[in-house]
Amino acid sequence: MRSVLECKQLCVDSKASKPTDGRGRYEAGQRRCNTCGVFFDTANMHCQCCGTKLRTKPRSKAGKERLAAVHSRSDTTAAEAAAPNPAETKTVSAPEPKRGAKAPGSKPQKSRSGAAATAAAAATAATAATAAKPATTVSATRGPNLGGMDWGLANRMASIIRPEDNRALMLAVDHGYFLGPTERLEEPDRVIAPLLEYCDSLMLTRGVQRTSVPPTTRTPMVLRVSGGSSIIGEDLSQEDVTVSIQDAIRLNASALALSIFVGSKYEYQTIANLGRLVGQAQEYGIPVLAVTAVGKELGKDARYLSLACRIAAEQGAHIVKTYYCEDFEKVTGSCPVPIIVAGGKKIPERDALELTYNSIRGGAVGVDMGRNIWQSDHPVAMIRAVRSIVHGTNDADRAYGMYLDLAKSG
Ligand code: 5RP
Repeated sequence: MRSVLECKQLCVDSKASKPTDGRGRYEAGQRRCNTCGVFFDTANMHCQCCGTKLRTKPRSKAGKERLAAVHSRSDTTAAEAAAPNPAETKTVSAPEPKRGAKAPGSKPQKSRSGAAATAAAAATAATAATAAKPATTVSATRGPNLGGMDWGLANRMASIIRPEDNRALMLAVDHGYFLGPTERLEEPDRVIAPLLEYCDSLMLTRGVQRTSVPPTTRTPMVLRVSGGSSIIGEDLSQEDVTVSIQDAIRLNASALALSIFVGSKYEYQTIANLGRLVGQAQEYGIPVLAVTAVGKELGKDARYLSLACRIAAEQGAHIVKTYYCEDFEKVTGSCPVPIIVAGGKKIPERDALELTYNSIRGGAVGVDMGRNIWQSDHPVAMIRAVRSIVHGTNDADRAYGMYLDLAKSG
């Protein structure tokens, strides 16, 4: 019997807005689901809500001819521009529906502020006002060179930085490795469970992975393998590699994460650790994510972060995690591997969404965000809003409107 495809209402926050630059929806690359009756900004062949094959062309002959004429014009322009790597100039695409099918609401945690409710009306207005903006053009996002990698390494990299759009949303929950029971991460299993389906990968320690993540998950694990110091100890930069490659393999790690402390007392030790780790991990096809740690004494400007990121890449790191800063393009522009941006300490949701948007505009592949998601009063709403920027077309205003709407209904 033929199965009947039906809209499960999962498409609600993934609908694409109508282009306002005079182009038709199909001209702008949108695809239509006839079952859900909506357009998406997506490269997917099938609707993520109901599974129907998406329509890429208008039904009418006249519409098809108009579209063909537009394509032939843009093919000529593209050939003239001759961009060597499509990943280098990219239009933000496809508001990404969550992974999996169920749509749990956000479980409210201890109330931090009542400002969200008062801001809701203003944000809805802002959402309407900004919905008319055309998609943002982002340049110089450096994706991984999968073609130059062995199969296992390329496959693991592709599970972290999604090849469809060259973007990554990593959820960081590794803070306990030097902070102990961080505020609102006291019970990692309860924090992680509702967020798991919305992130592309999870960054964590082996202790949290074994105790707090169901082994049935399909979400890739980015395993922190460095540590050794605590927030109350003498020097946070005194880190070593604390997990063997065998244990990382047992844990089915998709990548290993290690911090380097450039300019600190333990600079040499941490950078040499990175070099050795890359050598070992490479043998087993496991990518390494280097975290450029910052601290009281370590800078957070483009000069320092460019230095730290480049050193990490020179040691062979496959991805570098760093902080957003002014002139961020200088950091991404001088680092030959993909950069992912850490969220940093908790700031208002609107600001964290702006940080996400600016990071991607500045050439990052995405964010590795922790506190700004699970320290929010509405973690699920927040991760979905972040996701709508990383994998979608939302700017910070629209994502904030989405956050407020989801927070209200969740
Ligand atoms: C700590 C880390 C964290 O994973 C990183 O800082 C991301 O989390 P947050 O967004 O909370 O800053 O690597 O060294």
